[in-house]
Amino acid sequence: MRSQSRTFIGVMTGTSVDGLDIAAIGIDLDEKIEFIASETIAYPTDLRENLLALSQAEATNISSFGELDAALGRFIGISVNSFLWKFNINPKDVQAIGSHGQTIRHQPPDTRSNGERSFTLQIGDPNQIAYITKIITIADFRRMDMAAGGQGAPLVPLFHQNILKKQSSDTALVNIGGIANITYIEDTLLGYDIGPGNCLVDAWCQRKLNKPYDDKGHWARTGKLNSRLLKRLLDEPYFCLEPPKSSGKELFNLTWLTKNAIEYQLEKMSSQDVQRTLLELTAVTISKSVKNTPKVSNVIVCGGGRNNEFLMERISSLLNFEDKSGYVLEASEHWGLDGDSLEASAFAWLAFRRLNNLVGTVPSVTGAKKPSILGAVYTP
Ligand SMILES: Nc1ncnc2c1ncn2[C@@H]1O[C@H](COP(=O)(O)OP(=O)(O)O)[C@@H](O)[C@H]1O
Ligand SMILES: [Mg+2]
Repeated sequence: MRSQSRTFIGVMTGTSVDGLDIAAIGIDLDEKIEFIASETIAYPTDLRENLLALSQAEATNISSFGELDAALGRFIGISVNSFLWKFNINPKDVQAIGSHGQTIRHQPPDTRSNGERSFTLQIGDPNQIAYITKIITIADFRRMDMAAGGQGAPLVPLFHQNILKKQSSDTALVNIGGIANITYIEDTLLGYDIGPGNCLVDAWCQRKLNKPYDDKGHWARTGKLNSRLLKRLLDEPYFCLEPPKSSGKELFNLTWLTKNAIEYQLEKMSSQDVQRTLLELTAVTISKSVKNTPKVSNVIVCGGGRNNEFLMERISSLLNFEDKSGYVLEASEHWGLDGDSLEASAFAWLAFRRLNNLVGTVPSVTGAKKPSILGAVYTP
């Protein structure tokens, strides 16, 4: 099969800024996908810190912005080269690289602004990537959909649909990254950002324990759920919006938490109780969104959140509470899918779609006026 298939590389830099996910996939003449190799490469500390700072900055200076854009592009290019070498993939066999880039701001259209203030910005200069790898690079995947009035997100559902073909409409795919999103099929393809995945539990853990994440949810497990605080956080209007909708860390961050929890004086609450409550917020919003999909009973979970054992337990338990028929919640590995590289694979597939002038999105997901061919092509 490899000899007849074309190889594409996908690079994902998610909102968690935990590392660069790289995936190689083969696409044969019938558009069947074969997963070839994948790896997560850690960022050098200063690059990670600068990316986090820029994505949280209210204001920035243009030189630091431009320097970081180029530095991330170079890092991606060098990382792809070492990935190809490590997995013995001949660069000449690679048709294209699809690079998502690091989201610095995502400001989707909302009903108030009528789309006039909407924009989305990903950095990681694709010229650098193409030049360093000598491979055609596709980037800037989101902005054509936004130009067409869409959210520019999520972009993974069409890819999910492609790989889920064998499963029927009883299956939903939930990706728990920094932000959580869901894909399901109900006559038509649907998908949207649910809300916080790991972003709040990560941020709180970083602030209180100086660790980037709460391994397996052990710390959250030691805390006590504060139901009043949870109820307050669930009042967030985003959760009640009808899809299409997308979100980011611009909304769900510690400032949001502090603002909503003002009467609780967070600093006086025990830190682990806050962590427990934030984990429950993720679990409740995900399980509610699954329950809102009438036909779904199988839930496939990908993204780093599937490694949070306590979170997975809570989602499963909330799903099956008062429900005799039962939901089956499994990490994607159970279905033969690597949950760390599915998003990177999606951008490899979107690069294939772009090179073949095929649309990369559907209006039922993003709310755009029409489907668009996504991404710009950078030829070395
Ligand atoms: N062992 C683990 N225990 C708990 N959480 C984990 C574990 N491994 C990964 N994660 C979570 O997954 C996140 C990374 O998930 P990822 O899917 O890469 O998100 P993104 O797409 O936003 O980069 C980490 O920041 C962390 O919150
Ligand atoms: Mg990641």
